[in-house]
Amino acid sequence: MSKLQSPVLPGATLGVLGGGQLGRMFSHAATQMGYRVAVLDPAESGPAAEVSTHHIRSAYDDESGLLELAQLCDAVTTEFENVPAQSLRFLQQHVPVSPAPDAVEIAQSRIREKTFFVQHGIPTNHHCLVVQSADIADAFAQMSGKAVIKTTTLGYDGKGQQVCNSAQEMLKAFESFGAVECLVEDFVAFDAEVSVIIARDIHGNAEVFPVAENQHRNGILDVSIVPARVNDSITEGARKIAHQVADALDYVGVLAIEMFVVGDNLLVNEIAPRPHNSGHYTLDATNYSQFDLQVRMLCGLSPVPIELLKPVVMLNILGDLVLHEKFSWHTLMQDPHAHIHEYGKESARAGRKMAHVNFLGDDAGELLNRAEQFKQLFYPAS
Ligand SMILES: Nc1ncnc2c1ncn2[C@@H]1O[C@H](COP(=O)(O)OP(=O)(O)OP(=O)(O)O)[C@@H](O)[C@H]1O
Ligand SMILES: [Mg+2]
Repeated sequence: MSKLQSPVLPGATLGVLGGGQLGRMFSHAATQMGYRVAVLDPAESGPAAEVSTHHIRSAYDDESGLLELAQLCDAVTTEFENVPAQSLRFLQQHVPVSPAPDAVEIAQSRIREKTFFVQHGIPTNHHCLVVQSADIADAFAQMSGKAVIKTTTLGYDGKGQQVCNSAQEMLKAFESFGAVECLVEDFVAFDAEVSVIIARDIHGNAEVFPVAENQHRNGILDVSIVPARVNDSITEGARKIAHQVADALDYVGVLAIEMFVVGDNLLVNEIAPRPHNSGHYTLDATNYSQFDLQVRMLCGLSPVPIELLKPVVMLNILGDLVLHEKFSWHTLMQDPHAHIHEYGKESARAGRKMAHVNFLGDDAGELLNRAEQFKQLFYPAS
């Protein structure tokens, strides 16, 4: 297995599996520091490839493409969790890879994730596994009247999941997902959703970013508000859980932990073995961004203490907005509080993440109003 012998420094080439917006922002951070970046992605072009030094156009499980990446790079990471763990293991024989394939593999499966939380005493909501239609009635009966069914793999942005109020409804959902293995979990009537991004190095030193409060629309992250409007004990608890999860995984890299706030308690919803949409605020509002830290962790450098420089509200710009007849970037470009990050995707589609805006100012409440006012030009009032 290839391990880092000494820090990888500017001038070296870093590899990233995946060519979407997270790869693009990784590439921006790395190239700014003086690294070269190689993207491996099957698409002809894309958000990351267009801002990187090299683009290896290859399937994620094609050994010749992976080998080309390994030969070109001094260290390799991934921008999305669904890259086959086997591919990461293959790469690891030739080049240092982080996060570790085992950690990525846990995050790839909702049931492995939940089992991992339970094994390590990390609080999470009540859940069980269903593998066939015959399991549904019993699974629903184990929950408290309202439950969520989620495919164990490949779900994102609320896809592959459904809230159910009856076993019949759940059975229909299960069948509509193609009767694949699913996780059933209690519906959580949360007071808020928060997330924490943590960066942990090869020696186990870790730093956490400020806790973000997240609001979703149709299962997709809509806004993140920082500082989160939660009390100090929730903030402390969320940071503590982030350390606990990262330590239990012996994680190297940037890890996101999504949590539900219920009264004075926190329940971990899920983790992502990479920078996260709810951490995009760090591009403008903290002294280092989550992508800066992704580069540093990959290169064997230490994490740095993170400071919030300004309150911030991050607003996701989905295809729905961009396709709207009244949409114009000009509206946002005229707002001195609005920092725009556009991903360079070729075409817009409803629900597709096209860009995000960080509204930066002195008062998070005022920034949230700004974001709401902008959204209301396009969406019916929420
Ligand atoms: N058990 C639950 N109870 C209440 N709400 C839930 C539950 N599970 C999911 N949700 C809501 O749906 C959102 C998306 O769910 P989840 O994070 O599990 O899925 P995802 O599709 O992997 O999302 P993403 O990848 O965008 O983070 C959550 O952030 C939350 O708002
Ligand atoms: Mg989520």
